[in-house]
Amino acid sequence: MKQMAVFASGNGSNFQALVDAIKSGSLQTELSLLVCDNKNAFVLERALAENIKVFVFDPKQYETKSSFEKEILRELAIHDIDWIVLAGYMRLIGPTLLSKYSGRIINIHPSLLPSFPGKDAIGQALQAGVGTTGVTVHYVDEGMDTGTVISQREVPILSTDSKDSLQKRIQAVEHELYPAVLAELLRK
Ligand code: GAR
Repeated sequence: MKQMAVFASGNGSNFQALVDAIKSGSLQTELSLLVCDNKNAFVLERALAENIKVFVFDPKQYETKSSFEKEILRELAIHDIDWIVLAGYMRLIGPTLLSKYSGRIINIHPSLLPSFPGKDAIGQALQAGVGTTGVTVHYVDEGMDTGTVISQREVPILSTDSKDSLQKRIQAVEHELYPAVLAELLRK
């Protein structure tokens, strides 16, 4: 069975959605490692509760991105990781990881890329006053949310929406879309 590592920096609701999909049998892979760059992230508690191994690191303790990515690569090798799944990992992937995992790193982003890349995509969409935003799952390249799109879902923006209400609807879509896209990729 393919081994997957999830990279996350915060709450980890997408991490949880993947764990739940695996438990229900709709996603057939092993989530063998969580990589996290924030020792205070709630996703660490989720991993602990689910008995999933964790590699936590503090980027400030390293001189370069390449030096912490080399350490991540060692962890990935120990766990025989095939796929890297970014789920709210708020950091660009550098050439060290990309060169080893090219075509096997995917990300989820809360907008219809190429609209609203980068931070606070939901706030950006509200600010722009568009009627529709959404969710994108895409391959990761060296750019900021620029890799080839794998799948997208639209989410309408209501006139009554706050950032909170829109984020809730977007995340509900993410939690369905991400496991489904991964299941499809793993079937190929
Ligand atoms: C998700 O909405 C994800 O799309 C977004 O961070 C959130 C993480 O939530 N990612 C990005 O904005 C990447 N550019 P979670 O920690 O609850 O899964």
